[in-house]
Amino acid sequence: MGRGERDHADHLAVEAMRRRFDTIDIRGTVVIGEGERDEAPMLYIGEKVGGGWKTGDERSPKVDIAVDPLEGTNLCATGAPDALAVIAMAMEGEFLNAPDTYMEKIAVGPDCRGVIDLRESWTWNLERIAKAKNKDIRDLTTIILERDRHNDLIAEVRQAGARIRLIGDGDVAGAIMTVKEDSGIDVLMGTGGAPEGVISAAALRCVGGDMQARLKWRSEEERARGIKMGVCGDDKIYQLNELAKGDVLFSATGVTKGLFLDGVTYFGGGCKTQSIVMRSQSGTVRIINSTHRFKPMNS
Ligand code: FBP
Repeated sequence: MGRGERDHADHLAVEAMRRRFDTIDIRGTVVIGEGERDEAPMLYIGEKVGGGWKTGDERSPKVDIAVDPLEGTNLCATGAPDALAVIAMAMEGEFLNAPDTYMEKIAVGPDCRGVIDLRESWTWNLERIAKAKNKDIRDLTTIILERDRHNDLIAEVRQAGARIRLIGDGDVAGAIMTVKEDSGIDVLMGTGGAPEGVISAAALRCVGGDMQARLKWRSEEERARGIKMGVCGDDKIYQLNELAKGDVLFSATGVTKGLFLDGVTYFGGGCKTQSIVMRSQSGTVRIINSTHRFKPMNS
């Protein structure tokens, strides 16, 4: 963290996460990962991970895995808040196999479930969210990635009267903030990565939030690749259950301290981390504070 080397930080996160998978008794397939096989040496789409493949134990569950070992590479490199290490898991075939393109997203917490509609305007959605939360539109806070492509969105939200928290990166954390009451964030709006969209959906499924999404191709080539991967055509609005269905498990560990989680902090001989682990089957949310020693105390 804070060394100005985003690619190196990402590389280390990928290696560390890959090593850990071998110790877990699953037969996992990466469906959202670091890219296609020829562009990523590890955690590429289609890679088999987990100890279950090695033991050949048929009882070891077959799962699909969505990873972002370092979500917010710039945030980590510059020491900015809310860089995360993220994994989501579902039974085979339950995640949308989202291609590496953009995705327009709207995400809200449980109190606004069923009130959003991406086919309508942002203003329409803000009005509905305000009504569901029994708030004035002026008291809503939207979280939006600070990008030129969002100039019209930002202008419309401000025109409607809502507040905006602009973030440099990290719309997975942005989506999850909508379900965290003390974050002060009511809705995530705008276009970010499609893989991050599926991972956000997995998190929202666990806590009863809601999300809709639409793929936004950056080129004809991307579109052709997406269609080959089996995703639907241009104007399809994906509902939360189409992005991540069935029983879903989500885990995130804070890399840099943020609104969502504490980051990694060091002390002589070790470090502390904070993770959140949630699953949709029970709705249980666990916050895990861990103290790690670089060398065991009794060695
Ligand atoms: P990285 O972790 O790959 O750097 O992604 C950070 C991120 O901000 C995501 O949270 C977001 O979905 C995406 O990048 C937006 O893409 P872009 O930076 O091209 O607008």
